[in-house]
Amino acid sequence: MSASVKSNSPERQRFYGRLRQQHLAPLWETLHALVTREPSTPIQSFKWDYDRDLLGLVQDAGKLLTAQEAERRVLILENPGLPGQASTTHTLYAGVQLILPGEVARSHRHTQSALRFILQGSGAYTTVEGERIDMQPGDLITTPSWTWHDHGNETQEPMVWLDVLDIPLVKMLDASFAEPGQQEKQSTVRPLGDSSVRYANNLFPVDWIPHAKYSPVFKYPYLKTRETLSTLSRNGDPDAWHGFKLRYVNPATGGPLLPSIGTFIQLLPQSLRTLPYRSTDATIHTCVEGEGETRAGDTVIAWKARDIFVTPGWTWLTHTATSDAILFSASDRPVQEALGLWREERGALTA
Ligand SMILES: [Fe+2]
Repeated sequence: MSASVKSNSPERQRFYGRLRQQHLAPLWETLHALVTREPSTPIQSFKWDYDRDLLGLVQDAGKLLTAQEAERRVLILENPGLPGQASTTHTLYAGVQLILPGEVARSHRHTQSALRFILQGSGAYTTVEGERIDMQPGDLITTPSWTWHDHGNETQEPMVWLDVLDIPLVKMLDASFAEPGQQEKQSTVRPLGDSSVRYANNLFPVDWIPHAKYSPVFKYPYLKTRETLSTLSRNGDPDAWHGFKLRYVNPATGGPLLPSIGTFIQLLPQSLRTLPYRSTDATIHTCVEGEGETRAGDTVIAWKARDIFVTPGWTWLTHTATSDAILFSASDRPVQEALGLWREERGALTA
């Protein structure tokens, strides 16, 4: 008699029924799916095409409801493997947010950590903890856990950005708190760019002791990021697996900007085809400049500026740039590293 027949025997099924009544379950039926030899995930590779789909749809959302009605006018980028779960990966949520000229996305705070990566438009602002931050394409802006933030657009053009938050992770931990602001817009208590000058110039105020779990710098401007990538690409050869890949850092710790979200930027020189690489963190990517394609396992994703795509963890990735290309990416790598779970593997040319 085979094991499967045995497992379906009436005696066993009756026994399982008795277990269910007592809120018990037989581990031997699920162990193989719980403790796998390698990661097994429902997360799928998927690309959202900005010009063809995302921009038009988020603009239509702008015609249907105001930012005030929506609180935040965001289209969630739902992983096809996790439908209806407001999740792009198991731990992270990504969305595309639109704010039209004259609009304000009112002040609030929450325990979820967030970042904005600016896709389109120029000069709208996010205010974080009383500091107004000007936003340009390619800028990375953080609104860490429990910091007050609101967004406004006093320019003449729509502004669109990619939001990445640890919403699914915080939901899993049942640790969500949120609070609306007293005012629609925070009062500005620090001058424009104050945190960048105070903490991002290789100098700290002499008596300052870092106390938060996040970077004291709220804006990582693309101008500086781009200049760094360009200089490095002139000064040396690209890494075979990553091209020129950098991680954004908290200057106080050398660690990530947010405790739950790692952020990365990489320049892939024209014609570079990276060697296969995999790591355990499912990753959200957006192309900042140029075009190319990413092979993720058996899936090939062609991308160009502002497209957004997600790749599952522990899947072989190979990037090919058809022009000089820049990719921004975000993942839960800091969480996995904190728990001693993060792994990576570099493949050979034939892998
Ligand atoms: Fe928020």
